[in-house]
Amino acid sequence: MTATARLVSMLRSSSSLSVLTGAGMSAESGIPTFRDAGGLWEDEDPVSLASVDGFLANPARVQRWYAERLRGVMDAQPHSGHVALAELESELDVTVVTQNVDGLHSRAGSTNVLEMHGNITRHFCVECQDNTGPGLSTLTSTVDTAGSAPGLVQCTLCGGLIRPAVVWFGEMLPHGVFSRAVEAVAESDVFLSIGTSSSVYPASSLIEVAQSNGAYTVEINVAPSVAASRFDDSITGRAGQVLPKLVSELRSTVSAPETT
Ligand code: OAD
Repeated sequence: MTATARLVSMLRSSSSLSVLTGAGMSAESGIPTFRDAGGLWEDEDPVSLASVDGFLANPARVQRWYAERLRGVMDAQPHSGHVALAELESELDVTVVTQNVDGLHSRAGSTNVLEMHGNITRHFCVECQDNTGPGLSTLTSTVDTAGSAPGLVQCTLCGGLIRPAVVWFGEMLPHGVFSRAVEAVAESDVFLSIGTSSSVYPASSLIEVAQSNGAYTVEINVAPSVAASRFDDSITGRAGQVLPKLVSELRSTVSAPETT
């Protein structure tokens, strides 16, 4: 029996599924991952772009970098894997816990999404926390213009610096999100980890929560992650191929006519 067939069989007898996703989930939508060849952290120091200290050291650079990423997200569309995950909601209770900040799960129709690392389409002022004024998208029209140095995006209320509403290294996760993720994973019969290197805590600890509560655990990745041996099963492949196949097999089994 293949790992996919075992997963289909487990899903048939389950009522709840929790899914952890990482950057690999969005790769086929054209959004780069962090640690793969050519990924965002290959040539960049993560701390200079994704920490409060890095931001304060060079806010214009950090704002511009996030404006470029924001434009990529706004141009991207959910792929067939995102849609398949959303479709699983018609078969069982699904909670998607994502490290991605692109909002593609919700755009694909998933209704129960916990964004562990925030959302790049939102922003706030580091001084007064206002999140209603113009965001970093005001820079996206200028990021292409060679030689132009777009100015800082500042709060229209207090003049403070505007930053993306994403979680940076050393910061707390959005209030309550991780405890809700732990609760959902602890209550799940099946836990999937899709497109993540499992290298960032605390997302990487959810596998233990799943295991200690007796869930069947499966990693779906183009290459086994450092955590692959901790899962009951691994499916090697792209999210955009594996997930639609999974849904189609689940449905064909469910709807197969009974034989006597
Ligand atoms: P990584 O870049 O660390 O890992 C991406 C994973 O996706 C790798 O294991 C790839 O093998 C896999 N992958 C690539 N393409 C895939 C595809 N089409 N289908 C399935 N798998 C694929 O990204 P994350 O694990 O998400 O944090 O990184 C975790 C966190 O580190 C991010 O949320 C970000 C980063 O620093 C913050 O910004 C706070």
